[in-house]
Amino acid sequence: MPDFTIGERDFLLDGRPFRVLSGALHYFRVHPDLWADRIDKARRMGLNTIETYVPWNAHAPTPDVFDLSGGLDLGRFLRLVGEAGMKAIVRPGPFICAEWDNGGLPAWLFRDPDVGVRRTEPRYLAAVREYLERVYAVVEPVQVQHGGPVILVQIENEYGAFGDDKTYLEALVEYTKAAGITVPLTTVDQPTDDMLAAGSIDGLHKTASFGSRSAERLATLRRHQPTGPLMCSEFWNGWFDYWGSHHHTTSAEDAAAELDALLSEGASVNFYMFHGGTNFGLTSGANDKGVYRPTITSYDYDAPLDEAGNPTAKYHAFREVIARYHDVPGVPPPAARPAPEFTVPLGHHVPLLDSPERWGAWQHHSTLPTFDELTPTPHFALLRTWIDHPGPAVLCFGEVRDRASVFLNGQPVGVLLREHHQRALGISKAVGELVVLVEDRGRVNYGPRIGEPKGVIGGATLDGEPMRNWDVLPLDLDALRGPWHVDSAPLAGQVGGPVLVRDEFTLDEPADLHLDTKGWGNGVVWVNGFCLGRYSSLGPQRTLYVPGPVVRAGVNEIVVFETGVMTSPVARFAPGPLLGHTEL
Ligand code: GLA
Repeated sequence: MPDFTIGERDFLLDGRPFRVLSGALHYFRVHPDLWADRIDKARRMGLNTIETYVPWNAHAPTPDVFDLSGGLDLGRFLRLVGEAGMKAIVRPGPFICAEWDNGGLPAWLFRDPDVGVRRTEPRYLAAVREYLERVYAVVEPVQVQHGGPVILVQIENEYGAFGDDKTYLEALVEYTKAAGITVPLTTVDQPTDDMLAAGSIDGLHKTASFGSRSAERLATLRRHQPTGPLMCSEFWNGWFDYWGSHHHTTSAEDAAAELDALLSEGASVNFYMFHGGTNFGLTSGANDKGVYRPTITSYDYDAPLDEAGNPTAKYHAFREVIARYHDVPGVPPPAARPAPEFTVPLGHHVPLLDSPERWGAWQHHSTLPTFDELTPTPHFALLRTWIDHPGPAVLCFGEVRDRASVFLNGQPVGVLLREHHQRALGISKAVGELVVLVEDRGRVNYGPRIGEPKGVIGGATLDGEPMRNWDVLPLDLDALRGPWHVDSAPLAGQVGGPVLVRDEFTLDEPADLHLDTKGWGNGVVWVNGFCLGRYSSLGPQRTLYVPGPVVRAGVNEIVVFETGVMTSPVARFAPGPLLGHTEL
């Protein structure tokens, strides 16, 4: 059986130098029916390896579940990589960053507010150990020495940007080795002396993450990793977007020149991303360095392969550079074809507040709980109380994470957005039933805010008086996505949320689609029960990607949960992606 080791200057496959030309492809961001297609396109760009993170919170939505089915079938994904004749790198975290909700750490882990985060703390480590055992049960048998594709496993992720607890890293290594992982173990850090020193321990092969100034960054890395191959484990060739910003792009020419610099130094590389895919469902993360910045649904990343799996100018430019150094097999994939263009009026609706009990059960709380004090932790919840304050009054929350729409006696009063640091609004006649719809728009995935609770933090006051006696209704997403059309009312024009809207559309054959959300406010969409993700008029993203395997020839269903206002209750399908304006 083959073996993969680290030599004096190179990675060695069966004793011969092997340059890792890898592309990041997250199985959890691509429909499983399309994995083989994306892997094959990586091979045809000249790559010999596929890298993926493993998102703990996706596999373990609750502590007693570890889901390896369908789109989470890591074993099948790795098998497909092997069948394509490629190698694999696995980065199980437990923290993965990756613009993924909570950086991959399950929210349930932080129910206990004293649990440690990314450090030596018994409760945190016990949960991590169990998680890693589950992941390695999948990875161990497909290591290269057993005939599988896996050549490298990464410990933690950019740990030097967060902490310097070496005992924690040692514990992760111990769990990894105890699970039978014998391929070389790596760490990745941003290439500064501090981070490279803090983020690794002896016995782990240090690598770096960067997207520019390759020669200089590799020299820094070399000071910390005096022997063995140099590797850029995250060659950032694009970037992600957040709601309310512009669409980030980088020039194919500059990125190709940077790649050339890396390869000419003899370095190994992992393109971050080769193909970014999509934050389907409610899985995107956020940054908060003083201002909350939720990541959009598209993870196109301006990567060589776009969100719909089509080659971009960068794909061709990188392929050409790689061909200067290595044989590149086959021919590049064909350019994208226009997707079907059509319009579907959304003709049915159910106002959410008409009968909230259809979408969950009320629970009584004397003081307002956070989302993390509810089981299971919701993404959306209704909070209800009765107020009797005949004059005008100010309603104030401790903190809103991340969006709150306020209704008095069924009438909208206002919306509070976390990124605007809003937490209070005035009510002119504060008498009657107060209902607040609160929304989690993605947990922070980088820095000290990882693990923080969601919902309303610190309760609410009315004119400075603490408000008690709340009914709380966590919304059940399975109920929202339907089927519920049986008793929905016709919809004729514009509509204010929260509202569920649905209709059907017919296709001659399955195809990738791009759903234009122009004229919609803020919410979530399902097609045939598959959650495409969040949309927002904040942009920059306008279209949501609908992977071909989600639709079928014949009748298809679209369901929209609008929490803002829909000025145009119509589903328009566009010929291609509209990811918004750039800064260029
Ligand atoms: C770092 C992290 C990745 C990702 C990128 C930005 O390199 O390691 O997970 O968050 O930043 O896309």
